[in-house]
Amino acid sequence: MDERLSRTLELVSSFYDQRKVGLDIGSLGFRRSTDLKTLLACLAVLEQEGLMGPDSMFLDMGCGDGRVNVLVSYLVKVSVGIEVDEWTLEEYVPLKKELEHLLGEHDLYLPPANIHLFHGDATCGKIYEEMQESVGVGLEDFDFFYTYLIMHEEFSRIVQEKAKPGAIFMVYGVDKVLPSYQGLELLKEMSPLGGILALYEKKIKPQPVGRTGTARAM
Ligand SMILES: C[S@@+](CC[C@H](N)C(=O)[O-])C[C@H]1O[C@@H](n2cnc3c(N)ncnc32)[C@H](O)[C@@H]1O
Repeated sequence: MDERLSRTLELVSSFYDQRKVGLDIGSLGFRRSTDLKTLLACLAVLEQEGLMGPDSMFLDMGCGDGRVNVLVSYLVKVSVGIEVDEWTLEEYVPLKKELEHLLGEHDLYLPPANIHLFHGDATCGKIYEEMQESVGVGLEDFDFFYTYLIMHEEFSRIVQEKAKPGAIFMVYGVDKVLPSYQGLELLKEMSPLGGILALYEKKIKPQPVGRTGTARAM
């Protein structure tokens, strides 16, 4: 990674980390923000391991103000987010504008134009139709599915049913005991990355067991 990009990612992380939303408990708990410094260290490992790269497609299910999308956008081909709360998503543009101003002042890279955020329910098929129409990508195209522990069971089922084999489900906010999901295999040697990010790989679908007997030529 070139030095300017590295400084850019550091500044993006500290910008958002100084503007974290929500508490661990209480009414805003669901709006907790990923600590981008911590995530950045995890992303560096994914890059070193050759798992994430410039051709990767990334989806944040429950993207909040889009901060994870902005950080990841520098490292991947497409960075998509879905957020159910419109007022939360509305914070994306003003925050990004402020960030861009700061990046400009430091002569650092602006976020690439590969970020696409949608307002909708990430458990609902309709939003994926909208995404396919406007960005031309479907669930089967993503290499990474990210969530901050919100609705992780429901989201894991979507990954299990619709993602391509080898796709990685990233669950941020885990502690010592890691959840398990049907059809997704924990990458044990890497999880939890940074003590907080669990990684699961979508398994190849088991072939349906056919009826016993000899196949007949048609
Ligand atoms: C803990 S915040 C994480 C925000 C951001 N991904 C981050 O890590 O900083 C989770 C977000 O998921 C959103 N959310 C919850 N259920 C959702 C759903 N079914 N579809 C889309 N967004 C959802 C919430 O409104 C909230 O903004």
